[in-house]
This record gives sequence, C-alpha cells and structure tokens, in this order.
Amino acid sequence: MEHHRHDVVVVGAGIAGLYAAMKAGESADVGVLSKVYPTRSHSGAAQGGSAAALGNEGEDSWEYHLYDTVRGGDFLGDQDAQELLVKEAIPVTYEMEHLGLPFSRTPEGKIAQRPFGGHFSKFGKGPVKRSCYVADRSGHAQLHLLYEQSLKQGVRFYNEFLVTSLIIEGGVCRGLVALEIRTGNLHAFWARAVMLATGGYARAWRVTSNSHANTGDGLPLVAKAGVPLEDMEFVQFHPTGLYPHGILVSEAARGEGGYLFNGEGVRFMEKYAASKMELAPRDVVSRAEQTEIDEGRGIDGGEYLNLDLTHLGADAILERLPQIHELVVKFAAVDCTKKPIPIQPTAHYSMGGIPTDLDTRVLLDGKKQVVEGLYASGECACVSNHGANRLGTNSTMEAAVFGRRGGIAMAKFVRGAGPILPGDERDTAAAEEEIEALRSRTGRESAKVIRAELQASMTENVGIFRTAEKLQKQVKFMQTLKERFKEVGVSDGSRAFNTELTELIELGGMLDFSEIISVSALARQESRGAHSRKDYPKRDDVQWLRHTLAFREADGSIRLDYKPVVINRFQPEERKY
Ligand code: FUM
Repeated sequence: MEHHRHDVVVVGAGIAGLYAAMKAGESADVGVLSKVYPTRSHSGAAQGGSAAALGNEGEDSWEYHLYDTVRGGDFLGDQDAQELLVKEAIPVTYEMEHLGLPFSRTPEGKIAQRPFGGHFSKFGKGPVKRSCYVADRSGHAQLHLLYEQSLKQGVRFYNEFLVTSLIIEGGVCRGLVALEIRTGNLHAFWARAVMLATGGYARAWRVTSNSHANTGDGLPLVAKAGVPLEDMEFVQFHPTGLYPHGILVSEAARGEGGYLFNGEGVRFMEKYAASKMELAPRDVVSRAEQTEIDEGRGIDGGEYLNLDLTHLGADAILERLPQIHELVVKFAAVDCTKKPIPIQPTAHYSMGGIPTDLDTRVLLDGKKQVVEGLYASGECACVSNHGANRLGTNSTMEAAVFGRRGGIAMAKFVRGAGPILPGDERDTAAAEEEIEALRSRTGRESAKVIRAELQASMTENVGIFRTAEKLQKQVKFMQTLKERFKEVGVSDGSRAFNTELTELIELGGMLDFSEIISVSALARQESRGAHSRKDYPKRDDVQWLRHTLAFREADGSIRLDYKPVVINRFQPEERKY
C-alpha cells in the first residue's frame, strides 16, 4: 500500500471541499481526494446561483434572509448556524468576485441578482432578488474558480480516488484509506485534519437531479465510527426535474417568470400558494405538483406537468437560461423558446447528514463532543442551516461559507497540533481485508439489480408523501436488500477501473444510509418541511421540534436519540408557505 502525508486531507472536490482546500492551502500542506475529476463534481450542476443579501436589485438585508431561511426550514434549523450563513454570505460573495468569478451583471456593473422560491424582503412580505448568478452555470463557474485557486495554493489533487475507511483511534482521526480507481491499488493518507465533503446522496431515489457519483460515500464511514447521522428523514424534492429522469431544470426558470401548468391548462399554484405562486418554497410546490399528478391532472393524465417559459421570449431565455435551453433540447427534444418543458418533482437535496459544530468539526455524540481532527462540510454535513427544507441557492452558499470556515479552522488546528502520526500495515490491515473480501466475492446477486430495487422502493415508500405503512414496508425491505447484498458477486477480476467493485462499495453505503433515512422518517410522527406524513399531516412542535440523531450500533441496529433546536431569534410560527 502506498502511504501519503498531508497536514490536511479533504475528501470531495465540490464547492465545499475546494473552498476548504483553497483556504487551508494558504498556510498548510493540503491533499484533495476526489472520486471524479474535480471540475466534474456535482456542484457543477448547480444552476441558479448563490443567495446573499447584497441588495443590488432592490431592498434586502441579512435579517430578511435569516427570517426566510428559518421559516423556509420550518423552524428546525439551528438559528446560530443560519445567522452565520446569511451574514457571511455577503463577504464570501465579494471574495469570490475578487478571485475572478464571472458573475452576470446589472447594467451599472453590479453583481446581478434574481428571485428564488421562499426568498422575500421585509420578513416575508415583498419580492426580493437575492440569488447572485452566472447565467445558469453558477456552480460550474464556482467549481472552476475554486479549482484554479486551489492549484495556485499548491494543493495536491488525487483524482478518481474512492475513500473506503477512516482511521479513527481513541476519538482522534489520523487519516483514511482510499481505493485508486485507475489502478485498483489501496492508498493510506495520514493527516492531522481530515474533511469529508462528499456531497449529497439522492442517487438512492429513482428520479433524481443528482449525478451518478452522488452516493453519499462519507456517511457510512462516520456511522461506522459511532458518529450519529442527523435529521436524515429530511430529503428535498425539487419541483422541476426534467421528465422522465429528473435532471435539474433550475428554479431560476421560475425566478425569471416561468409558469407551471397542469393537464387542464391551469396555473395550479393558485390553489396551493396564491400569493407566492411558483415561487413558494420547494416543499410546497413539490407537494402541489404531486397532488396534481396523483389526482389525475398531469399532462394527458400522466406523471408530469408543464413548465412554460415561452412568454419570456427567446432572447431572455438564451441570455439568462442558456444551459436549460440546451439541456432540454438534448434530453427531451423540446425547444423551450417555443414549447413548455415536461417536468416532475425530483429527489434533489439532503438537509440532514454528519453533525458538525459551527467550525465544521464532526460531533461524535451529535451534540458537543468532537472527533479530534475530523471535519465535514457541504451537503454531506448537517450544521443545520436548512432545517426541514432548504431554500434554493442556500446550498451553494452554505458550501462556500462553511467550506471556507472549515478550511480556516483546519489550518488553525494543524498549526497547534502535534506531528502527523503515520501508521503502518497494522492500522490499515482491516481496511485492506475488507476491500479484498469484496473483490473476491462470488455470489449470484447483482449490485445493479439491488440498486434499482433500492431506488424504486425509496421513490415509492420514502417519497414526497409518506405514511407509517409505506415507511414500515421500506424498513422491512431494507433488511431483505441488505441480506441479498451479501450475495453480490464480482465477476470482473481486473484491477484497473473495476466499476463492479466501486459500485459494490457505493451500494453498501447507500443501503446503510437509506435504512437510516427510513427508520428516522418512520419515527417522526408529524409533517414538517420536506417530511410530509399523510397520517400525521400537522407540524407538532410539542413533540417534534427537535433534531433526530441516528446511531448505527455495533450489532448493526439503529438507535434514535434527539437533541434540541437552537432557537435564539425567531420563535416558531405557523407556516403555510
Ligand atoms: O434550481 C436550482 O437552480 C437549484 C438550486 C439549488 O438547489 O439551490
């Protein structure tokens, strides 16, 4: 096994990972491991922009942004983290501008801003333009910026590496083991600080906006180390996934004025959120769409609705939404300057994840006790910025703000920490044995089939509308899938680019966290944000204004615990939309 040493090792090269690497790289020696080439990370699919109350196109303030974020998250977000997000969003936006991010501009040359669902001015009363964007290629532009700037800081990249285990001893993270996909060799990385920025995991659903790489690889690694996963039941369905696969059609399309129509030609949001219409928060719009579809008012009675942009005119579409235009032509053979786009809700974003403190340090007990040297940031983490439902464009901003905070925190930590403690074969033997055992499996089950069954069942049972019956069915089915997983064989004996092996490793993790999502969702007997229970249709602040912590016990069972929500500014109030 090849051994490497860095002060800081970051796993994942999306916006969070790259921002952390760039910042830590100013004073520390940093290595980044990425499953894909960094600029192909899934942050590149973020289209609409990043929220910051710059007030360039109308009145705005961080207090308004905070209120929307708290309310949009149905009061489950930790308000200290949310305050940091909305305040630091402003200087972070200017930092990216000064580093060279090619923002779209107003006629006077300021950073242009556009409206997004759930964002308002004056504490929910007026419209606001808050998303700072680069046409509809905002995440793509940020990835390129941060990658270039990380290279400038001398960050070393290990591309096409899949992390298989963390090395945590006595509550201290010392490094990790990763599979080099290109060669099939295992590598050990020894570090003073390790950050997980492994992204989202909506690939566990059949219809999703997420890329194939979004298999939540960081989650099972920390769960195995005894760290709980927080608020995993909260998974967001974006209202406009391209039918039938779910590729993202940015909310920017509605921000720019797009309308949603049902099969009867009605702008149905009138019925569900008359004052906010298409720009109500995502959970509200997705539920409205699913209701229309379930009640037979999809287009031609089918499973999709229409997003109509034609009235915006071809010039505006091609200037502000060029990528959407191209995607829809390529994947649906529809020219959206002339015809409506077929859309449906799509599994998009995970509000829960690895619990961290405000400096992105991973919390061993989910509450206060940290795992020394272990950090997490971006979608895989849960500092609890988004509560029960995230507002559009708050995620790329969270990745930037908290990736940056983590990078600074790690640089400080490694300055004061002792030497890197490189281990030897004794420390990595278990990790090696585990992978070799997978490689030599001969069972008759297929990972591809199990993955497809997982995705179909999560869509059916842990979708937009949930019931005890469906969730129980899913919890039970997870046991069956996990048993069958033990019988998956690897027929490809080659080492280089053995996708059968990497997909098997990914699937093991997906089964692990999908079971945690299902168990957490079954336990939460209320409806809040993206977690909508038909059998418990109301929010219940008396019983459920608390975070879920799901621990994977040594015997494989899941133990649930809870912790209070930080509420220091806005008291919970009724939220219709
Ligand atoms: O609709 C979008 O452009 C997605 C943005 C987001 O998820 O924040």
